[in-house]
Amino acid sequence: MSLSISVFGLGYVGSVSAACFASMGHQVIGVDVNPAKVETMESGRSPIIEASMSELVAEGHRAGRLHATIDSTAAVLESDGSFVCVGTPSLRNGKLDLSHIEKVAREIGAALKQKKSGHTIVLRSTVLPGTTESMVLPVIEQASGRNRFYGCLQPGVYARGKRGRRLSATAIHNSGGAGCFSSGSFARTLQTDAR
Ligand SMILES: NC(=O)c1ccc[n+]([C@@H]2O[C@H](COP(=O)([O-])OP(=O)(O)OC[C@H]3O[C@@H](n4cnc5c(N)ncnc54)[C@H](O)[C@@H]3O)[C@@H](O)[C@H]2O)c1
Repeated sequence: MSLSISVFGLGYVGSVSAACFASMGHQVIGVDVNPAKVETMESGRSPIIEASMSELVAEGHRAGRLHATIDSTAAVLESDGSFVCVGTPSLRNGKLDLSHIEKVAREIGAALKQKKSGHTIVLRSTVLPGTTESMVLPVIEQASGRNRFYGCLQPGVYARGKRGRRLSATAIHNSGGAGCFSSGSFARTLQTDAR
C-alpha cells in the first residue's frame, strides 16, 4: 500500500527519511523553512551530502514521488501523516531548544482544522521523555481543536554514512512499536514495509 507522507525539516534526518520513503514507493512531500533546501530537493538534488542520497533523491524525483515545499498547510492536507524532523539544538542552559518543534506542531494543528480524515504524526526529532505529552500533543490539540490524529515517537538509530541503507531496514520498524501510544494503518503500513 502506498502512503502519502509529509516530512518536516529537510536536514540530515528529514532528507534521508524523505528519500527512503520515496524509494519504498510512497508519495513524499518535504517541508522546510529554508527555500534553498526546498528548491534543491524539488529539482531532484539532495540538500545534504550523504552516501546514496544523490541517487535516491534523483530516483524519487524522476518517479514523481518526491517533492518539496515551504507550504506546510498544503503538505498536511495532501498527506496521510507527517514526520517531524526539525532541529532541537542545545541551549546555553543545557536544555533543548524546542521552538522549531513547537512551531511545526502549531502549523500541523492549524492545517488539521481543515482536514476531515485522520492524520498520523511521528516525532523523529530528539526530545526528552515526556515532551510529546507535555508539549507536542497539547499544542496540536489546541491548534487543531480536535484530537483525531495519531502520534508516534520514533527513536532513530543511525550509523554515519549509512543512513540511506539503515533507515529502510531498521528505523521505520519503530513506528508502530515501543513508544507508539496510538497508531493507525499509516504506522502499520510502514512497519510492513520495513520487514
Ligand atoms: N543527524 C543525526 O544523525 C540525528 C540522528 C538522530 C536524531 N537526530 C535528531 O533529529 C533532529 C533533526 O536533526 P538534523 O541533523 O536533521 O537537523 P538539521 O539541522 O540538519 O535539519 C533541521 C531542518 O529543519 C528545518 N526547519 C527548522 N524549522 C522548521 C520549520 N518550522 N518547518 C520546517 N522545517 C524547519 C531547518 O531549516 C533544517 O533544514 C534533531 O532533533 C536531531 O537531534 C539527528
